[in-house]
Amino acid sequence: MSITTLKLGIFGFGCVGQGLHNVLSKTKGINATIEKICIKHPDKIRSLDAAYFTTDPSEILDNPEIDVVVELIDDSEAAYHIVKEALIKGKAVVSANKKLIAEHLEELLFLQSKHKTPLLYEGSVCGSIPVIRNLEEYYDNDLLSSVSGIFNGSTNYILSKMRNEGLDFDLALKEAQDKGFAESDPLLDVGGFDAKYKLCITLLHAFGLLVRPENVLNIGIQNLSDQDVNYATQNNQNIKLVVHGQKQGQHISAFVMPTFVSADNPLTNVHNEFNGILLESAFANQQFFGGKGAGSDPTGSAVLSDISALTYGYKYEYKKLHQNTLVSYSTQQLLEVYVRYQDKETVQWDAFQNISQRFESKAYSYVIGSIYLEQLLQEEWALNDRISIVLKSILDGEILEATNKEIHAAL
Ligand code: HSE
Repeated sequence: MSITTLKLGIFGFGCVGQGLHNVLSKTKGINATIEKICIKHPDKIRSLDAAYFTTDPSEILDNPEIDVVVELIDDSEAAYHIVKEALIKGKAVVSANKKLIAEHLEELLFLQSKHKTPLLYEGSVCGSIPVIRNLEEYYDNDLLSSVSGIFNGSTNYILSKMRNEGLDFDLALKEAQDKGFAESDPLLDVGGFDAKYKLCITLLHAFGLLVRPENVLNIGIQNLSDQDVNYATQNNQNIKLVVHGQKQGQHISAFVMPTFVSADNPLTNVHNEFNGILLESAFANQQFFGGKGAGSDPTGSAVLSDISALTYGYKYEYKKLHQNTLVSYSTQQLLEVYVRYQDKETVQWDAFQNISQRFESKAYSYVIGSIYLEQLLQEEWALNDRISIVLKSILDGEILEATNKEIHAAL
């Protein structure tokens, strides 16, 4: 195996860019040097010599000496153009931009294959936790049936602070922003979009499924109130923003939703900016991975790990995608949900399969009922800001049942 010294051109020197520089400078034995860093604001005071910086992308993209483009900017649209051009020019690319990757997965696969150059993005999912390469390599031969977890540090920070320290939502969000965990547009975090992008990327490496983010339900934490948190506490549970990806037969369902997590679930002990991943597989049964999911050095360390992997010629082979050609995305999964509402009229009652519990008072009303994921995805009432929805449980067997129904219909 040949190890080369890589010359890096970095786009962005914000939270993750500075983290990368920090971990790179403290890690001995990495065969990589920073050649240039392209930034947007030349007037900002920087911790590095001015000679490193440029505002001209072509100083990186058109420099034949630079082998690897490291894309760490905030603007996902601009990032898309940088990554695309770099791949077309035959440069290897490392990115931590989950929105860009999730929204363009199919094209990025095509570009890597056409230009025979790799794109690595370990830092885009769960910060410091090695999840992508792990799913890609270690789980190659294991039969994964479920991937779930806490994939967003900011919302976990907010929920932890609300529950453990009684902080109010806005103050906790401000803290997450000040610590550099939150996206520039915090709706991406609190609305569950960021977690959903990470889920879409994970589904490809876990199950070989390509799904567009707009087809995946994301319910965020922005409508949660103290009443919901108290309900969880009274039932000896926590509310966490959880991503769910489940495979039954060839059908995969996926969504992001606030979820009641009970005391025996490892996710209940994942606090603040930490993330946690639960895998279920046929032979290993349940496994749990935890670590910091956001922040400068933790994400920088995942980016550095990709750079290190490039020095020995690593690339994703997307094995599951090539193996599992029959997998399909399904929204036919029955969920048991808690729905708190302020006005009865805002709830679409006929969307429920059944309602098992109902509580109504002047200040606080909720129901517990079962509903198909499809109904939540299609109906706008579920995202109404006067309604709060929390998952109680995924009702087993329903994806399979839908599959069987389809098979019978086809016969
Ligand atoms: N805003 C993201 C989070 C950053 O809070 O998890 C890490 O991807």
